[in-house]
Amino acid sequence: MRVGVIGVGRMGQTHAVTLGSIADVDSVVLTDVDADRAEQVAADAGAGTVATTEDLLASVDAVVIAAASSAHADLIHACADAGLPTFCEKPITTDLASTAEVVEHVRRAGIQLQMGFQRRFDAGFSSARDLVADGTIGTLYVVRMAGHDPAPPHEDYIPASGGIFRDFSVHDFDALRFVTGQETVEVYADGAVLNFPQFERYGDVDTGVVALRLSGGSFGILSVTRHDPLGYDIRMELLGSGDSVVVGWDDRLPLRSIESGGRPAPADAYANFQQRFAEAYRAEMHAFVDVAAGRRPSPCTAEDALEAMRVAVACDRSREEHRPVRLEEVA
Ligand SMILES: NC(=O)c1ccc[n+]([C@@H]2O[C@H](COP(=O)([O-])OP(=O)(O)OC[C@H]3O[C@@H](n4cnc5c(N)ncnc54)[C@H](O)[C@@H]3O)[C@@H](O)[C@H]2O)c1
Repeated sequence: MRVGVIGVGRMGQTHAVTLGSIADVDSVVLTDVDADRAEQVAADAGAGTVATTEDLLASVDAVVIAAASSAHADLIHACADAGLPTFCEKPITTDLASTAEVVEHVRRAGIQLQMGFQRRFDAGFSSARDLVADGTIGTLYVVRMAGHDPAPPHEDYIPASGGIFRDFSVHDFDALRFVTGQETVEVYADGAVLNFPQFERYGDVDTGVVALRLSGGSFGILSVTRHDPLGYDIRMELLGSGDSVVVGWDDRLPLRSIESGGRPAPADAYANFQQRFAEAYRAEMHAFVDVAAGRRPSPCTAEDALEAMRVAVACDRSREEHRPVRLEEVA
């Protein structure tokens, strides 16, 4: 199989290297609007040959899109027109109407689209899903989630990101659906700029909180920050009538106990998403090759991306209007 990678920044390079190691993949073709970068990645990583986007689309069996978010919708449309199985990093777009257009085009074209919600391939999140499904958790009372970045993105990233909920928390909203099997029906969200004034300039926040009501009656609660002095903290605690478990609390969790004899901050705490989800990124590429080979349907569809984005949009509305927002308001 010949696989094209469009956009070879941080994520594209990671995916290109993984693809190069998969037996079913005979060759990898790279493209980037920054042609020097594509050549550099091809040379450094030994990760494939370089082509224009047009030539790539005409010559490959499947496509991985890891370009800047603002390019995703047009690129998915092009892949759908070409009838190519496609993997795309989140988001499709940060706007619901154009996301829905992409969902419809993908459906009409009949291509498989796999979205890059890598937490679905993380061993901890998968175990949590199993424990909910097999009844071990029992009645699920509350899901407590933390999404804490180690440091804010550079300022150029902020205006096109869609804001903290659409850019970052969208992963938590997808994971919540994946693990619990429940849909979010109502949110109350708030947020503020507490430390990084650059977010204020774009109407964004550096810290947010969300209370969620789920379709099965359970509650969710999320904290999201753009700064954590100890590292990258992605956690999900599930508290139910049968068990209390936590995803993301391993030896590298960037958190210290202040109890006597408690756990100190680890010296090798997760520093970034590349460290925390290295295995999951590899697993999602292996899954995509199976999807492209026709061995399985997409494990994370365009519709899944749309549902997670609807929750993020509801959070923005709730924060702006200081009120709970029902999901049916977000058509
Ligand atoms: N799943 C995750 O955990 C995760 C983590 C980080 C980023 N992302 C997503 O991955 C995508 C890429 O993020 P990144 O951190 O690798 O960014 P990056 O800035 O490191 O790389 C993006 C690359 O895309 C190229 N590019 C931009 N527009 C293009 C186009 N039209 N055609 C071809 N190349 C183009 C840029 O030149 C750049 O090299 C974003 O959509 C982001 O939301 C996902």
